[in-house]
Amino acid sequence: MSVVAAIAEFIVTIDGPAGTGKSTVAHRLARRLGLEFLDTGAMYRAAALRALELGIDPADGERVAALVRDLEIRFDWRCDPPDLLVDGESVGDRIRTQEVTRAVSAVASNPTVRAAMVEAQREIASLHPRLVTEGRDQGSVVFPDAHVRIYLDARPEIRARRRVEQLATKGIVTCEAEVLAQILERDRSDSSRRDGPLVCPHGADVVDTSDIDIDDVIDRLESIVRERAGAALRNAHRTQSSGGNVGGSACGDGATAP
Ligand code: DC
Repeated sequence: MSVVAAIAEFIVTIDGPAGTGKSTVAHRLARRLGLEFLDTGAMYRAAALRALELGIDPADGERVAALVRDLEIRFDWRCDPPDLLVDGESVGDRIRTQEVTRAVSAVASNPTVRAAMVEAQREIASLHPRLVTEGRDQGSVVFPDAHVRIYLDARPEIRARRRVEQLATKGIVTCEAEVLAQILERDRSDSSRRDGPLVCPHGADVVDTSDIDIDDVIDRLESIVRERAGAALRNAHRTQSSGGNVGGSACGDGATAP
């Protein structure tokens, strides 16, 4: 059995700015390690989409907060990647449009929205405790005790080019300069908000993906995760043999930080 499979509750957080390849990396890493995958950006996008559909200004903090309090955001975990359902309806690619991308920062900077999302993400982890989760605040706020905390970064120009190419595969033509401006604005807004700002979590492994291809990024993350999982197991065995109580699983509740 692999070291990761031997740990009953195992959370890997991947944070970083837009366009570092987080979603793809997190999804493929999860598959490789036999863990589940949580895309938290999709949850914020779903809230932004619903606001737009209902004609609510995404910057209208009170109305968006009230909307999100009533919203049921769930994943269908039978699909791979899990399908996002809002009030029971699959949102599909409607959360990836430019309009939603433009609206989402205002929604994500709303403290009431963030509190609801943090709670929903912890609830998901209690039901799916073997998880790779990606976003902006996963290692810093939502799961600060995760076994592995990764921060992915890349130069803004590279991130803009990747976004343009990604949208092109979906038939969406965009201007690279405009996407770069959007990315810089989103970085500024994500990093400067008071609640859950984009920061490198304490003790995180930083991986710059600017000049590495995606397969190499995943290989690197896999080796970091396996190393951490091995260390956590060795710690748990040491605690056990010195008479400590490690609970029902190797790393149990309150996962050991690296
Ligand atoms: O990763 P993404 O582009 O799908 O994220 C969409 C937006 O949601 C982006 O503005 C950052 C925000 N977000 C956040 O504030 N916290 C998270 N955990 C995930 C995303």
